[in-house]
Amino acid sequence: MDARKTGKNAKLTVGDKSWEFPVLGGSIGPEVVDISKLYGQTGMFTYDPGFTSTASCESKITYIDGDQGILLYRGYPIEQLAEHGDFLETCYLLLYGELPNKTQKSDFDYRITRHTMVHEQMARFFQGFRRDAHPMAVMVACVGALSAFYHDSTDISDPHQRMVASMRMIAKIPTLAAMVYKYSIGQPFVYPKNELDYASNFLRMCFSVPCEEYKLNPVLARALDRIFILHADHEQNASTSTVRLAGSSGANPFACIAAGIACLWGPAHGGANEAALQMLMEIGSVDRIPEFIRRAKDKNDSFRLMGFGHRVYKNYDPRAKIMQKTCHDVLAEVGHKNDPLLQVAMELERIALHDDYFVEKKLYPNIDFYSGITLKAMGFPTSMFTVLFALARTVGWIGQWREMIEDPEQRIGRPRQLFTGAPRRDYTDIAKRK
Ligand code: SDX
Repeated sequence: MDARKTGKNAKLTVGDKSWEFPVLGGSIGPEVVDISKLYGQTGMFTYDPGFTSTASCESKITYIDGDQGILLYRGYPIEQLAEHGDFLETCYLLLYGELPNKTQKSDFDYRITRHTMVHEQMARFFQGFRRDAHPMAVMVACVGALSAFYHDSTDISDPHQRMVASMRMIAKIPTLAAMVYKYSIGQPFVYPKNELDYASNFLRMCFSVPCEEYKLNPVLARALDRIFILHADHEQNASTSTVRLAGSSGANPFACIAAGIACLWGPAHGGANEAALQMLMEIGSVDRIPEFIRRAKDKNDSFRLMGFGHRVYKNYDPRAKIMQKTCHDVLAEVGHKNDPLLQVAMELERIALHDDYFVEKKLYPNIDFYSGITLKAMGFPTSMFTVLFALARTVGWIGQWREMIEDPEQRIGRPRQLFTGAPRRDYTDIAKRK
């Protein structure tokens, strides 16, 4: 279904003038006031820095109920998808809107698997970076550079090219992410192997070396596949909104995804998984937790509990619960079930969930709280955590980008402002300035 007129109107009264704006409804979730004609009718803008009360688009992909702690991909609960499906099934669902049947699934797996290699020139592209460059810096550059190699899938007006670019992006992002990791540790790049599933292929490209056969751990591969599912999409978060805004100008999909990666890097967003692990390592032991809880509550201290809080979830992030269980599974598998960082994380969560400050501000662990411990136990350095987030979120970005491009009402995004700077004034010659 599409947005529908509810027959209700919102009345705006300013002084002795009033205007009415239609209220639109969706399938589930809050109704919206359509203010697209507000400026034309009133000469005023709305003001909503951070877009806390603004719906930027109509979408059919992901639904979040922050109060209930619900996350649905095309209507399916994240818990069920993570439990019963695999990441490529979730990719198909996000892109096409329905779960694939057996034929569709095997065809989709085949198409993705056979686009996993990147242009051989990309390997030379890496040579310009320092080995100690942050992996996210290299990711932004390499993904943006894909548009320099795949000219035949940058015409966004061509549905076929949009589909090819989407497949290429989802297929190549693990290969690029693994190359970024290998480059940072001075090891040779590892080519993908077509007989492996998506997560296993990525683990092998990251951790195998030419000197010996790589032994895949199916428990870790399944855990990583589930982690990818949890990170695949999340409504109009900052990086997805970045991708949509970049795409609204007609920029090619590779450039748009590179913009999304850049935005995700921030510690308030996808960079929180790296920051959360660093915080847990700084806390170090359970007895230091009260000091950090106090700092998190201190208005004069910029410290925040990384991995806690969320703009939308004012209840537990449903992904965090699944992430916590996956964390236990991985730690047990690698023999670190008594990892001190996990003890600190669990005690920190227990204390925070009973502390009036966190309860009153509805601050719960989010997806980033347990992911760092899990990825560290799998062998990834902290600098790679946000790269893995970007890898998984690429399908969400591509799906939202395609939905925006195919929306007949789509126009270039161009917000306005509340101007509080200097009114018009004339130029003064430097000789006359004080
Ligand atoms: C992701 O949007 C998405 O969907 C994102 C994401 C996705 O899948 O795409 O879910 C992924 O980005 C998860 C969030 C990861 N970020 C962190 O864990 C960083 C720590 N958390 C915060 O910085 C913060 O909670 C945000 C950025 C996540 C949300 O910020 P908001 O909604 O703008 O909330 P806010 O900053 O206005 O905080 C409200 C109050 C403030 O206190 P007051 O000024 O009202 O007194 O809560 C406090 C904040 O000081 N607060 C925290 C806190 N987070 C908010 N206090 C201590 N520790 C925290 N973590």
